[in-house]
Amino acid sequence: AKEPARVLVTGAAGQIGYALVPMIARGVMLGPDQPVILHMLDIPPAAEALNGVKMELVDAAFPLLKGVVATTDVVEACTGVNIAVMVGGFPRKEGMERKDVMSKNVSIYKSQASALEKHAAANCKVLVVANPANTNALILKEFAPSIPEKNITCLTRLDHNRALGQISERLNVQVSDVKNVIIWGNHSSTQYPDVNHATVKTPAGEKPVRELVKDDAWLNAEFITTVQQRGAAIIKARKLSSALSAASSACDHIHDWVLGTPEGTWVSMGVYSDGSYNVPAGLIYSFPVTCQNGEWKIVQAFMDDYNCFMASFCDSGLSIDEFSRKKLDLTADELSEEKALAYSCLT
Ligand code: NAI
Repeated sequence: AKEPARVLVTGAAGQIGYALVPMIARGVMLGPDQPVILHMLDIPPAAEALNGVKMELVDAAFPLLKGVVATTDVVEACTGVNIAVMVGGFPRKEGMERKDVMSKNVSIYKSQASALEKHAAANCKVLVVANPANTNALILKEFAPSIPEKNITCLTRLDHNRALGQISERLNVQVSDVKNVIIWGNHSSTQYPDVNHATVKTPAGEKPVRELVKDDAWLNAEFITTVQQRGAAIIKARKLSSALSAASSACDHIHDWVLGTPEGTWVSMGVYSDGSYNVPAGLIYSFPVTCQNGEWKIVQAFMDDYNCFMASFCDSGLSIDEFSRKKLDLTADELSEEKALAYSCLT
């Protein structure tokens, strides 16, 4: 039998936490043959609620769940963890300045970075969900210098899945037959959901989404804004955030990172930019990635003749047209600004 994996969920008494921990305990994140020990962290005002979640995990009698640590002590929470899903954070409240929210989150992510660096298992993989997700991940990276930068990521898989869902609804096809959309950039309303390389499996073979949708006006406008604004639309409808889909997508993110992406398929992950696609190095930016042996790699080239020809016009990688280029740059600019704001909170 496999050794249990220790999975940390911060903010575990919150909404996403409540949806996420049972998924992890059922094997949705790490597979049906991987036992888990859950580490749940929250802050003292939520301690009682956190204990209630622990009681329910016991009551659910999950066969894969080999232990539960529920604590408000960050060191106890981080000790020995193999996977860390960072959902806890300080939400923006009415009347608060952006800088004040950033400042609260910078101090949270700075201290949790140090705890992870000192106490997590070697090679711990980190996924930041709490907003501003990309910049929280960047702060975590800066203050955990001994954790390899490739181990620190943020969640844009929800946006990726939302894009797949929109295409599936529009074309009335199974969502599992749609693949290779891309979310570029920030997990915010400046993100760029890109369908230029996406395909659908049809009885006549794989077809480009653009060819099947036959409506560039929709793809270039409404599709993009629907995906960008979907979080707000869910809050408006539910009066609560999109906890179910965020939790499910967080499982997808870790699942594919650890167990690999299928041949010919990529997913979107917020990762530390190495300058690919002329995105400034040193930002956490969402790229198309493939995963193998527990490591992600930014998709660089699409190997069919037509796309290689197109790619020759834009140094390397998937072809990026002028429309897309502007959107990649816009969301990068926002992330550079957020980074500057975050750094200004450190002094
Ligand atoms: P929530 O408010 O229900 O839960 C957040 C939890 O974090 C609370 O229990 C709170 O006590 C806890 N917390 C606060 N400070 C903490 C700290 N220093 N250490 C540990 N725990 C702490 O919020 P919800 O709906 O669960 O969302 C969580 C975060 O995820 C929010 O920042 C939200 O904006 C973000 N989010 C991100 C998405 C993505 O795709 N990246 C999608 C949806 C939400």
